[in-house]
Amino acid sequence: MTEYVSPTSADEPDSAFEEQLLFNLVYCSQVSDGIGQTEVDAIVATARRFNPALGITGVLVFGSGVFFQWIEGPKTNVLELVNRIEADSRHKQMTILSSDEEIRERIFPTWDMELVGADDIRDVLEDALHTAQEAKNVDALKGLIKSLEDHS
Ligand SMILES: Cc1cc2nc3c(=O)[nH]c(=O)nc-3n(C[C@H](O)[C@H](O)[C@H](O)COP(=O)(O)O)c2cc1C
Repeated sequence: MTEYVSPTSADEPDSAFEEQLLFNLVYCSQVSDGIGQTEVDAIVATARRFNPALGITGVLVFGSGVFFQWIEGPKTNVLELVNRIEADSRHKQMTILSSDEEIRERIFPTWDMELVGADDIRDVLEDALHTAQEAKNVDALKGLIKSLEDHS
């Protein structure tokens, strides 16, 4: 008897599944001495130039000398970018706060890397919370909002 192979599993290579995995990573760091708004604007311009081609979206928060960045996209691209960012002398003491990989919606689907001030990050996260559908994203956003409250 011929073994039955379902057309779906036979036609879909593993990579088709992997392409749907979305990796996200959150880190914070401290701005280096002598780096101000002009340099931060240049960083954002670079991000907007490179990120779309890599399928990367996210948000960069800058305030009180601290960077906080949420990066989401294909895992290889995100990790390659994070290595580049880590080597960047415009900041120091980079600390990865969390990373996660699974099939899920993007939290910032239309932002190739938006810069927001620390005062506005709460509004940004609240907006994202309103549009988030997946329980996991809702939890992640609530956790970030809570950690902001704890540190304010
Ligand atoms: C806090 C911070 C965030 C950054 N975010 C990005 C980013 O989202 N995308 C990007 O291409 N470069 C970003 N950069 C700049 C990279 O470190 C790097 O300079 C840039 O990708 C160009 O790479 P290259 O210097 O190897 O040419 C960031 C740098 C810093 C300090």
